[in-house]
Amino acid sequence: MFHLEIETRLRAAVSAVAPSADLATVQVRPAAEARFGDFQSNSLMAVAKALRLNPRQLATDVLARLDIADLCEPVEIAGPGFLNFRLLPGALARLLEQALGGSHLFFRPAASPRSVVIDFSSPNVAKPMHVGHIRSTGIGDALQRIWRLLGHRVVSDNHIGDWGTQFGKLLVGWKTLLDRDALGRDPIAEMERLYKEVNARCDADPATLDRARRELVQLQSGDAENLGIWKEMIRLSQVQFDTLYGRLGARFDVTLGESFYNAELPGVVESLVAAGVARESEGAVAVFSDHTLPPKEDPLLVSKDGEWVDIPALIRKSDGGFNYMTTDLATIAYRLRTWSPDEILYVVDDRQSGHFRGLFHVFSRWRPDDFRKAQLRHIGFGKILGEDGKPFKTRSGDTVKLADLLDEAEERAQKVVAEKRPDLTPDEQKEIARIVGFGAV
Ligand code: ARG
Repeated sequence: MFHLEIETRLRAAVSAVAPSADLATVQVRPAAEARFGDFQSNSLMAVAKALRLNPRQLATDVLARLDIADLCEPVEIAGPGFLNFRLLPGALARLLEQALGGSHLFFRPAASPRSVVIDFSSPNVAKPMHVGHIRSTGIGDALQRIWRLLGHRVVSDNHIGDWGTQFGKLLVGWKTLLDRDALGRDPIAEMERLYKEVNARCDADPATLDRARRELVQLQSGDAENLGIWKEMIRLSQVQFDTLYGRLGARFDVTLGESFYNAELPGVVESLVAAGVARESEGAVAVFSDHTLPPKEDPLLVSKDGEWVDIPALIRKSDGGFNYMTTDLATIAYRLRTWSPDEILYVVDDRQSGHFRGLFHVFSRWRPDDFRKAQLRHIGFGKILGEDGKPFKTRSGDTVKLADLLDEAEERAQKVVAEKRPDLTPDEQKEIARIVGFGAV
C-alpha cells in the first residue's frame, strides 16, 4: 500500500527532473534492513547511468521535487544514490484508522464491480461429507471471500444433491430396515447403512430393485408419505452440513438444491426440443452434436477406433425421469434471470469436467443470447492423495469422512499442546489444538 504510493510519487519526481527516464525501472521496495528505514529505492543509479548523469546529483534533484512530507520523514540519500524512506507514525495511524473503519489495508475495490454466482461444496444428502468436499468448500469459500474483498457482488450457492434415483433405495431402506436408535445417534451413518444394504440387495434381487423404482416414482409424483420421509432425510443431512460448515467457517447466501428446479424440468426439455436442439432417441430425449465445432472441441463427440462417434447429452430418460444435465440447464436459466451474473463459477472436482463442457455447450445452443452475456467457468481440482500417491482412503478402503479428518487433526495437535504447554488449562489447550489442527488441514 505505502510502497506503491511512494513509488508513484517518486516516478512523478523523476519524470519532472529527467523526462526521458524509463519510469518502469523506478521502483520502491521494503527496506532490506530496518536500520535503512521502512522502504528503499535503488533505482536512481540505473536511471543516472542510462542518461549519463551523476547519480548523487540526480538523487538530490529528484528529492527536491519529491512531494512526500505527509508520509515520510525527510528522505536520506545513502552511498552513491540509494534512497531510504522512513514512514511517519501519523501516516501509519491514518491507515489503521481507515482499516478500523472497514476499508482494507492492501486492496482497493475494483473500478467496475462484476457480479458472480459461485456454486461450491454441493454435497449429496443422506451421505457423509468426505475428504474431497474440503477442497470444493475451501476453494469456493476462498474465491467468494476474494471476490467480495475486491468489491464484486457475489451470490454463493450450495447446489446440494437432494434429488435423484438414490432416494428410491433410501426409501425402501427407511421403510423396511430403519433402526430408530441408530438414526438418533448418528443419522448420516444410519442413512448410509440403509443405502448400502438396499443397494446390495438390489444387485441380487430384482424384486427389491423394482420396489425401489416404485418408491421413487411415488416420491416424484408427490406421494405424501414418501415426501415426508424425503424431507426428513434432507433435514438430518442439513444438520450435518451445518456443523461441518461451522467448523470450516464457510457460508452460503443460498442453498438451492437440485429439487428446487423439479417443476421446471419438463419445460426445459420441451423448450430444447422446440428450439431444435434436442430430439427423441430410443424413447429418451437427448442433445446430439450439430457438427458445427471441430470434432476435437465438440463435447458431444468422442473418438473411438479412429472415428468420431456421438456421446449425446441425455435430458430425459426413457422412463420419463430427468438427468443431472437437465437440472443444471434449469439452474443456469434460473441464476441468469434471478441475479444477472457476469460469471457463474462451478467449483467441482475434475472428474466432472466432461459434464461441464457438455453443459456449457448445450446451454450455448439452447440460449445463445444469454450464453454471450455470462461467462460459465468450471473451476476444477484433483483428488486428495494419500502418502502412497493413491486416492486417500481409510485402512479398510473407505473414503475418509471429513468430520473424522478434522477430529484426528485436532487430536494430534492436542497431544502436542498437552506435552508442550502443561501449564495451560484444558480449555485453553483444546482451543489451541482446534486452531492448529484445522490450520494444518
Ligand atoms: N452434487 C454434485 C456431486 O456431489 C456436485 C454438484 C456441483 N454443482 C453443479 N451445479 N452441478 O457430485
